[in-house]
Amino acid sequence: MSEEGLFSEVEEFPNDRAQERYDGLLGIDAIKSHLVAEARVLLDPAIVEEWSRKAHGKVIFAVNEVKDRTPLVVLAGDVGSGKTELAETVGNPIANELAVPVYMYSLSLSARGHGAVGEMTTLLTKAFEQVREHAQAGRSREGNLRHGTILLIDEADALAQSRELAQMHHEDRAGVNALIRGINGIRRDRLPVLTIMCTNRVDAIDPAVRRRAAAVLEFKRPDDDHRQQLLRRSFADATITDEDIAEVARLTGPIGERAYGCSYSDLRQRFIPTAVLQAMNEQVPITGQALIALAESFKPTRPFDAELGQSE
Ligand SMILES: Nc1ncnc2c1ncn2[C@@H]1O[C@H](COP(=O)(O)OP(=O)(O)O)[C@@H](O)[C@H]1O
Ligand SMILES: [Mg+2]
Repeated sequence: MSEEGLFSEVEEFPNDRAQERYDGLLGIDAIKSHLVAEARVLLDPAIVEEWSRKAHGKVIFAVNEVKDRTPLVVLAGDVGSGKTELAETVGNPIANELAVPVYMYSLSLSARGHGAVGEMTTLLTKAFEQVREHAQAGRSREGNLRHGTILLIDEADALAQSRELAQMHHEDRAGVNALIRGINGIRRDRLPVLTIMCTNRVDAIDPAVRRRAAAVLEFKRPDDDHRQQLLRRSFADATITDEDIAEVARLTGPIGERAYGCSYSDLRQRFIPTAVLQAMNEQVPITGQALIALAESFKPTRPFDAELGQSE
């Protein structure tokens, strides 16, 4: 494994493209503000001390408990619900809040596979080494934040699998241990690094990892209102009526025998493009009727089924 190939390109925030993508995420405002607020304090705990001095005239003891937390946040939930998109772009509001540049190192475990013995452990150990090296310069001698670093571990399912699972191989356990060593080291040395881990299966995450996380944020599929918002954003200027939008939102939700509706990515990456291309191929405008017909036959992605142990 080549060292250069460890991460996909390092991204620097702020940048406009990231803000656009971040703004494009609907229905997760609470998660967004929770994540930004946590990241701010985890990367720059001096903010909390500053507040305490102002509010209490000194740094109160409780502040230590905030400062002592592990700078790890887990984004968990269904496929296509915005975990990766948020993790890849949240560096932007964080950089703006903290008024310093933020750099993102992104590691995708599933993309790299984990066949070879020892690969997962080596990969993680190297990743943490490289991020630590970069983050050393993240604080000035006086302790002021100069830049922040985000280590994104996407598709962490394979890695974070519970050590309690009986069928788990020894090597997988070593991967979990490497992760814990890495995040513990960052906490111990108070490096300005926030690790963000994404997973479709929060239940499968090793309890030792979950326990350390400063926050576990759960993502869900869009509800009726969110589907309407998304559809309106795409089709309102195509003169589709509110009634038709509402009907399409209903049809793409949980309906009849089907207990689940469309995910955000079902709508944005499949339903909406299909509707556009269909009309284009026929050289006609998009109509409410066409959208409704498409929605009636559209099949949402099955949610991840933990019991079957696979998603479809
Ligand atoms: N909350 C959301 N609002 C708008 N679009 C979304 C949202 N969540 C996901 N999407 C769309 O779905 C695509 C896939 O989302 P992604 O973040 O990769 O999902 P996952 O949760 O599986 O990581 C995104 O690129 C985006 O187009
Ligand atoms: Mg993802």
